[in-house]
This record gives sequence, C-alpha cells and structure tokens, in this order.
Amino acid sequence: MRLSSYTALTAALGLASTADALKILMGNDDGFGSGNLRELYKLLVDAGHEVVVVAPAQQQSGKGGTVIWSETANLTIPSQYNLIPAGAPSVGRDNSSQDIWYYDGTPAACTFVALDWVLPRYYPEWKQTADLFVAGPNYGTNLGAFVMGLSGTVGATFAAISRSIPGIAISASNRAVPYFNVTGASHPAVLAAQVSFEVVNEFIENTMDGQAVLPLGYGVNVNIPTLVNGTTPPIIKTRLTGNANTDVAVYNETTGLFDWDNVDPVAAGINAAYNGDLSLPGETWVVAGGGVSVSVFTMDYTSPSNTYTELVFDKIGGLVVGEGGNGTKYSRRMVEERMRKRGAMLSGRDGGA
Ligand SMILES: *[C@@H]1O[C@H](CO)[C@@H](O)[C@H](O)[C@H]1NC(C)=O
Ligand SMILES: *[C@@H]1O[C@H](CO)[C@@H](O)[C@H](O)[C@H]1NC(C)=O
Ligand SMILES: *[C@@H]1O[C@H](CO)[C@@H](O)[C@H](O)[C@H]1NC(C)=O
Ligand SMILES: *[C@@H]1O[C@H](CO)[C@@H](O)[C@H](O)[C@H]1NC(C)=O
Ligand SMILES: *[C@@H]1O[C@H](CO)[C@@H](O)[C@H](O)[C@H]1NC(C)=O
Ligand SMILES: *[C@@H]1O[C@H](CO)[C@@H](O)[C@H](O)[C@H]1NC(C)=O
Repeated sequence: MRLSSYTALTAALGLASTADALKILMGNDDGFGSGNLRELYKLLVDAGHEVVVVAPAQQQSGKGGTVIWSETANLTIPSQYNLIPAGAPSVGRDNSSQDIWYYDGTPAACTFVALDWVLPRYYPEWKQTADLFVAGPNYGTNLGAFVMGLSGTVGATFAAISRSIPGIAISASNRAVPYFNVTGASHPAVLAAQVSFEVVNEFIENTMDGQAVLPLGYGVNVNIPTLVNGTTPPIIKTRLTGNANTDVAVYNETTGLFDWDNVDPVAAGINAAYNGDLSLPGETWVVAGGGVSVSVFTMDYTSPSNTYTELVFDKIGGLVVGEGGNGTKYSRRMVEERMRKRGAMLSGRDGGA
C-alpha cells in the first residue's frame, strides 16, 4: 500500500500500481446521487483503488447510527433525483455505474447491507469486508461528540468500524448538489472531494503493505471548512471536545411545534474532556477558523481510569460484588470462557462471517 515515491497527484492520475490498490467501501447520508460522494468516488477510482458505494436511496441526514430497513422489497417512490424509478428493487445498482449501489434504508443500514448482501453476492473476492470505509463528504460539517450519535455520515462509519473496518467520516461545508449538476473544476463539490482525497490518500500512503489503515476499533472524523480558490486550508490535528454544539428545543408559540437550534452559549456537558490529548484544539474551533480538522476516535466509550470514575463506582460500592472474583460466574476468566464456547470473534479483516 505504501506509495511513498508517489505524490498525491500521480496517484490521482491513476499511476498507483494494482498492488497498491485498496478495497474501499463508501457510504454517506445525503444519498447515492450526492455530487460530493461521486466526486470523491472518482478520485479514489482514478487513484487505482477498487471502490464500491452503497448509499441511501433517499436523503437520510441526521439518522446517526440508527438501523432502519426498507419495509418494502421495491421502492414505493422514485429514488433521489429520480435516478431509479418507483417499483425497482429497494437495493440495486445505479444505472450510471456498476459499482454504485443504493439501498432504501438509513446510512448505517446501508453499511450492513453492503457487508452482508452486496459484497458477498456481487464482490465475493472482497470476502465480506473492506480495507477502508469512507463516508461523505457530507454537505455541512459534523463537529463535536454530539454528531457521533446524530450524524448519518458518522453513523455509517461507526457501523463499519464496529465490523472491524477502518473508517473515515468526512464532512464539508458546501451545499447539496446532485452529481449530474457538478460542472467545472472549481465546483465546491470538486474542491471538497479534492481535500477529502488528500487526507484519505495520506492515510493510505503512510500505511505499510499488509497493515491496516487504522488500528482496530479506530475511526477518523474529518471536517472541511468553506473552500476558496482551490487551495487546501491548513490540516490540523484536533479533538472532539472544545466549543462543540448540542441542541436546544425551540418552542414556537404560534404553531405549537418544536424545532432545534444550537444551544448558545455552548453546553459544558458535551465539552467535558477526559480522553486523549487535552492540549489539542477542538475541531469546532479549528473549522470556524478556516482549518481542516482531523479528529481520531475509538469504539470504546468506557470512561478513563481516574478518580472521577472511581467516585462513580464507589457510589454503588454497597451493591456491586466488586470485580467478580476469580472462579465466579462473572469473573473475566469465566466470561471469556463462555465467549470462547460461543465462537471466535468475527474479524471483518479476516473474512467476516
Ligand atoms: C418488485 O419488482 C420486481 C421487478 O423489479 C418484481 O418482479 C417483483 O414482483 C416486485 N415485488 C413486489 C413485492 O412488488
Ligand atoms: C435505470 O434502470 C431501471 C431498471 O433497468 C430503469 O427502469 C430506469 O429507467 C433506468 N433509469 C435511468 C435514468 O436510466
Ligand atoms: C440541476 O441543475 C439544473 C440546471 O441548472 C436545475 O434546473 C436543477 O434544479 C438542478 N437540480 C437539482 C436537484 O438541484
Ligand atoms: C481568492 O481569489 C480572489 C480573486 O482572485 C482574491 O480576491 C481572494 O483574496 C482569494 N482568497 C483567498 C483566501 O486566497
Ligand atoms: C413561528 O411559526 C410561524 C409560522 O410558521 C412563523 O411565522 C414565526 O416566525 C415563528 N416564530 C418564531 C419565533 O420563529
Ligand atoms: C485471577 O486470575 C488471573 C489469571 O487467570 C490472575 O492473573 C489474577 O491475578 C487473578 N485475580 C485474583 C484477584 O485472584
């Protein structure tokens, strides 16, 4: 995979050897007709990678990691931008490209349909996994821990990471545009894809052959500010917390309806920082300042070992039976024994289920 002698440009021109080619699964939440998605897809294909897209048949923003399957075998209404007519199967190929698929479900559902239906049936050589999952670029940024539960872009990525695939979620600041309306080299969707490619390609280039792009259970959240004049803004290492937003419910007295807004000033809870390098700037600040943020997260939500965590456990000290003494049903040793009987843990990278 190491393309050290190649620049991003030569890779973009398709000069990467097939030995360097990765199997990249893509998704998003804006829908399979997204201009951003298709532009990044083209750049990854041009760089020599095998890329399969499985993305929602309709716009599915804000669905987070929720998995909602299509309730009908065939589309009851035409897909996004009328690309697929009503009555066509709820999962299928786009007419414009063999390797771009739609599914009429949420972003995370699309990831699972990709892994458990599209890949095994149509791409058996992928062995039900991918070397890398890339979502987006989304229309609009996804900043702070709040979006870990809210964003479909992140949700689709989370689903892939949970199945042992390194995942990169990318969000940009441009507006929605169907792929067939992206014209000209300076279109915002083209620029967003170029910056996305630059970051993704850097991860790939600096991965030794045979190694995983990211450690098991790791993901990356990339956010791109509004781009001007085709120049890539500075790319900054960031953390999720720091001036990050969460919602406030806004009640309209006239309509009797609620809508959301960003809470102002920002809430302390969503910005409580415990894990990782606390000296890194928050991604929200960095993107507001015009930089590209790159945050790293893991599947493990467990709180760190510190006095706060001790304090929390201490409160139920009278109830809990400690850490489960050796030999008891709940000890780590006995639990692991039961898990072994259940079967080896699935590893997407080794061929999955
Ligand atoms: C779905 O559409 C296919 C043709 O694409 C048709 O053969 C099938 O009967 C349809 N299924 C349902 C449940 O309508
Ligand atoms: C895509 O393919 C379906 C099924 O073959 C067809 O009904 C539909 O008209 C095609 N759409 C376009 C835009 O070509
Ligand atoms: C695509 O561009 C055409 C021509 O500018 C415009 O009429 C149409 O509304 C655009 N489609 C969408 C879905 O934005
Ligand atoms: C972008 O280009 C315009 C016109 O050439 C120029 O006025 C502006 O300063 C440039 N902006 C940046 C951020 O380089
Ligand atoms: C409440 O809803 C009405 C009707 O949609 C709208 O005209 C009004 O601006 C809204 N009020 C506020 C404070 O947003
Ligand atoms: C429990 O058993 C493990 C080995 O299985 C051992 O390393 C550990 O020290 C034991 N813990 C206690 C509290 O006895």
